[in-house]
Amino acid sequence: MDLETFRALEPLCWRAPSAHNTQPWRLRYEPAGIRVGWDPARELPAGDPTGRDLRLSLGAFVETCLIVAADADLPLKYVADPEDQWVGWLRPAEGPYPTPFRTTDVWERRTDRGRFSAGPDPEALAAVDREARQAGGEVRVVPQADRLGALLRTADQHLYADPAITAELRRWLRLDPTHPNYRIDGLTDRCLALSRPAAVGLRVGLAAYPLLRPLGLPRLLAAADDPLARGGTVLALIAPEGLDQAGQVEFGRLLLRCWLTLHTAGLAAHPLSQLIDVAATRTVLGTLLEVAPERLVHVTRVGRPTRPAPRSARRIPSDEPT
Ligand SMILES: Cc1cc2nc3c(=O)[nH]c(=O)nc-3n(C[C@H](O)[C@H](O)[C@H](O)COP(=O)(O)O)c2cc1C
Repeated sequence: MDLETFRALEPLCWRAPSAHNTQPWRLRYEPAGIRVGWDPARELPAGDPTGRDLRLSLGAFVETCLIVAADADLPLKYVADPEDQWVGWLRPAEGPYPTPFRTTDVWERRTDRGRFSAGPDPEALAAVDREARQAGGEVRVVPQADRLGALLRTADQHLYADPAITAELRRWLRLDPTHPNYRIDGLTDRCLALSRPAAVGLRVGLAAYPLLRPLGLPRLLAAADDPLARGGTVLALIAPEGLDQAGQVEFGRLLLRCWLTLHTAGLAAHPLSQLIDVAATRTVLGTLLEVAPERLVHVTRVGRPTRPAPRSARRIPSDEPT
């Protein structure tokens, strides 16, 4: 098999999701296979100090590569082989990668931070939980949803109070269409479902952060958005105890399969990672779910979109698959 054939498919693989839309992945073509790793310049050392979301994003990318290759009749498999800034290989396989998903699903899936008309139905919940259980995890609805609004505000306030985390977020925000990277990477005002005045307000607020932080800006920013008021159900992805770094990549693959399962059922996901990024809210969430907080890998609002979400930017643009 000529691995070079995969190069033409790369732009579609880049539709994989990543935290802050950093698209941290890196591929290196070698005789033994295609090595998968990441660009350290695209890490999030302040917001993701343990690299959990980096490895979830790399796993989501690996799974996307396997799906896109399978749909193009290119038999590839993933072999974990962590070393420095590499996580593993895409290698020729005996047969096609078994997946129910198609490249069109990869293309159409989007994070949706807008309004949901309903949460997931029991069948969709059972489907993602089944998927998770095959990887040794589980997906559960977070109970006591009425407590989540306050928890989210606490988490956001905590993150906005941290100058390094806020500076890093600011680096990846694209709040104005004239930003040079608006169509390349990061989080645009459109994808964040911000109105023009809200985007301008956030931009001005963050520009004056050093001045306004002691005057209560973190509290103001945390109170400015209430995603739970836009409907849906909050789900948690729970890993087995002691998930190591290679396991986190595997859970990124699982995360992508869960999101595509939801997508093909007409549903969308809006991650709320801040709930597990902040130790205090992570502990409360663990108590609500009756699991050790370290087992919480991802938290997301899921529901039925009321309109299509904007497509996020990519460093390598791709055409719609035929
Ligand atoms: C591991 C991971 C964590 C994420 N956490 C958040 C989050 O906390 N809040 C959010 O709005 N989006 C979050 N996202 C969604 C990304 O911002 C999104 O995937 C990226 O902007 C690309 O957009 P797309 O998913 O529409 O392709 C996360 C994505 C991944 C893979």
